[in-house]
Amino acid sequence: MMTPSDIKATLAFSDGSPSMELPIYKGSIGPDVIDIRKLYAQTGKFTYDPGFLSTASCNSTITYIDGDKGELLYRGYPIEQLAVNCDYLETCYLLLYGELPNASQKEAFNQRVMRHTMVNEQMQFFLRGFRRDAHPMAVMTGLVGALSAFYHDSTDVHNPEHREIAAIRLIAKMPTLVAMAYKYTVGQPYIYPKNDLSYAGNFMRMMFATPCEEYKPNEVLVRAMDRIFTLHADHEQNASTSTVRLCGSSGTNPFAAIAAGVACLWGPAHGGANEACLEMLGDIQQMGGVAKIGEFIGKVKDKNSGVKLMGFGHRVYKNYDPRAKLMRETCYEVLNELGLQDDPLFKLAMELEKIALEDEYFVARKLYPNVDFYSGIVQRAIGIPVPLFTAIFALARTVGWIAQLNEMIGDPEYKIGRPRQLFVGAKSRNVTPLAQR
Ligand code: CMC
Repeated sequence: MMTPSDIKATLAFSDGSPSMELPIYKGSIGPDVIDIRKLYAQTGKFTYDPGFLSTASCNSTITYIDGDKGELLYRGYPIEQLAVNCDYLETCYLLLYGELPNASQKEAFNQRVMRHTMVNEQMQFFLRGFRRDAHPMAVMTGLVGALSAFYHDSTDVHNPEHREIAAIRLIAKMPTLVAMAYKYTVGQPYIYPKNDLSYAGNFMRMMFATPCEEYKPNEVLVRAMDRIFTLHADHEQNASTSTVRLCGSSGTNPFAAIAAGVACLWGPAHGGANEACLEMLGDIQQMGGVAKIGEFIGKVKDKNSGVKLMGFGHRVYKNYDPRAKLMRETCYEVLNELGLQDDPLFKLAMELEKIALEDEYFVARKLYPNVDFYSGIVQRAIGIPVPLFTAIFALARTVGWIAQLNEMIGDPEYKIGRPRQLFVGAKSRNVTPLAQR
């Protein structure tokens, strides 16, 4: 809840125009906010903050990050505790409804989600319109958007029941769609969901089973996949979540809003970083591996090279990303399970991390490994092809997107998002007839 502070901010102007008093609100934790909603009406001026460096776009009760401490809380629970004590569907319940489920709530929620895992049979014909070598995120943007054409009874975002069922459908169907996108690229038959498996186990089966053989999910790998889902489930007002909120603020249907989130996530500065990170490790490996790290770091530090250390740095974390620590643990577990302890890319990543963490360039800028630094190595070891990494991120983040969207729509104060601009282009001028231009 936003609590008004006793302190007020005063905005004064050097040209003698009247100053303005601005209310300040306190959250439950984190920085206070200065309320500028009446600024334009009272002063005729906008604020300027491209990239939202100092602007809170909403109030929220879902996820809290303390970037300096390296802390991530879902509904108040530290990610380290959730990752160890809860599975992904419990985390979904927590994000959607605000509390962890008890045993019977968990059972009922699992059943509800797992009963919605099938997608309309027509979806496979829709998929056929794509080239076999289409990027999975191109396919996912299309498929998720297309859901709104199939489930007309859950597209009214102003109806709480529609919002609820759309949330369940999206969480349930994303694994099926991601697995279908994968099977389509490799030319294998789609595997229908099996609802008595766990959420992550069912996903692994849809990905890796074929109709010709029995498939037994490996429990260590299923746990790793579940942890990847949990760690990516939400991350407060990041680019894709803000995209979903902005898109949804027009009153569009939830499937369309989530498709916008998928499109935003694709970018290499956001969810595409896990794919980009693995490609980077591959490039360094090709250059000569560990011996070439110094040379590569040199390029990263050269601003003209345009090379970034992918999987490093974060807008909010100015400390080790807590998700990266958990993912590193999972990485050890998975590589041990698969007998890949000497995996050269993992060794390279460890060495790169060590060198970067000691380097003045990274230390001064507080650049630490983020979750994507290790998630790619885990996924590759599990057998997920690199181009599918971001689609798995999208699958996991869907619950966060829909929880945030539903929170916004449920807030009686919400308005359509409509940023302003500082216009620096040509002033009004007359069109010269073509012959005289
Ligand atoms: N490699 C080299 N230099 C970097 C990096 C990096 N990965 N990240 C930031 N910097 C430098 C940047 O050049 C700038 O230097 P200077 O002050 O000399 O101009 C300084 O650090 C501050 O960076 P910034 O660009 O102002 O930071 P930002 O908050 O705008 O960008 C970021 C955050 C995540 C886009 C950026 O760190 C980045 O591109 N990292 C690599 C991509 C990546 O791993 N993204 C995944 C983010 S975590 C998963 C997710 O949430 O999607």
